[in-house]
Amino acid sequence: MSLEIKSRFPIFRAHPDLVYLDNAATTQKPDTVIERITEFYKEGNANIHRGVYPLAAQATTDFEASRDKVQQFINAAKREEVLFNSGTTAGTNLVAQSFALHRLQRGDNIVISAMEHHANLIPWQVICQKTGAELRVIPMNSKGELDQKAYSTLLSNKTCLVAVAHISNTLGTINPVEEMVSMAKQKGIPVLLDVAQSIAHYPIDVQALECDFLVFSGHKLFGPTGIGVLYGKEEWLAQMDPYQYGGDMIRDVTFSETTFAGLPNKFEAGTPNIAGAIGLGEAVDFLVSIDRAQILQNLKELQAYAMSSLLSIEGLQLIGRATNRTAIFSFALADIHPHDIATFLGEEKIATRAGHHCTQPIMDFFGLPATTRASFSIYNTTADVDRLVQTLRDIKAFFS
Ligand SMILES: Cc1ncc(COP(=O)(O)O)c(C=O)c1O
Repeated sequence: MSLEIKSRFPIFRAHPDLVYLDNAATTQKPDTVIERITEFYKEGNANIHRGVYPLAAQATTDFEASRDKVQQFINAAKREEVLFNSGTTAGTNLVAQSFALHRLQRGDNIVISAMEHHANLIPWQVICQKTGAELRVIPMNSKGELDQKAYSTLLSNKTCLVAVAHISNTLGTINPVEEMVSMAKQKGIPVLLDVAQSIAHYPIDVQALECDFLVFSGHKLFGPTGIGVLYGKEEWLAQMDPYQYGGDMIRDVTFSETTFAGLPNKFEAGTPNIAGAIGLGEAVDFLVSIDRAQILQNLKELQAYAMSSLLSIEGLQLIGRATNRTAIFSFALADIHPHDIATFLGEEKIATRAGHHCTQPIMDFFGLPATTRASFSIYNTTADVDRLVQTLRDIKAFFS
């Protein structure tokens, strides 16, 4: 299955030896997505919403069709609840500035977790500092699992929002977001879910999850960079002020006053990433066309295989040993610097990432300055794991 899928990704034809294990940073793109973007620029390019000539009308239709595809993909109740932006980071910042900032008062709090990506940490930290609110952090144990008991005690009638990741981009932990949302809901607290790392592989249904906001980036689900989605419940979005002001988001403008367009346009000021949105729609089509259940099963098997193979290397310290985890592995190897490991792997055409992975608090928690991270996706195979593990053994031998 993985090999058949792999043949649809041209990067592997250009680089037949490539073992691509940097999927948590960005995924590769299938032919159909690349072709659709090229086709748009070659044959369909025009700005959207304002033009009445056929090319512009078609670009608008295609752009809005992508919104419908995303709506169905995440099972949003309404297409107006799907906002396009530049990615996960844009989504958390929008919710911080347009939703939370106006509601936060001194003494209130926002709850995040100890394993958040900086994109789901700093926007909340900054508005807490501005308002005198408190940033509360759900602690985790040494396996990289969130302490659900502690979480329940952090929730109070002063909690303005809970913002948590579905899957940690560093630890691979799959958080029990269904339970976490329902605990917050019992206290009437809105929840934002960062599904940047889960959207490509796991089914996401915003109505079943009952989350209030959800953010992800197109480039992590085989779509282009520079495009992302913020889902928000209509009842919140309708109350919120725009985040940015300019063209395409207004109803009426005079020098004394402006009235704003309805949803979703109110939150999509300026010319959007039209080709990106259309490419994202194509990525959604790709995902819908494959057997996702089978692919998820493959990924789970790959996770188990990679886990036991990596742990067979003496001196390898894997951080993130949650019982419920995905195929993202951050590790230290003996006392070899993670950048040396990643460089060596790169020379052997194995793409991994070294650093703090935009999660410095996780590095502090484990007392490491950085790790090497190998993250898997639908085109990876056990042969990729074997090459990674053999090369890590070679690196260890070389440095000792
Ligand atoms: C869990 C998580 N949240 C947020 C982000 C930020 O995504 P982007 O840089 O596409 O905005 C990432 C990217 O790695 C991520 O893994």
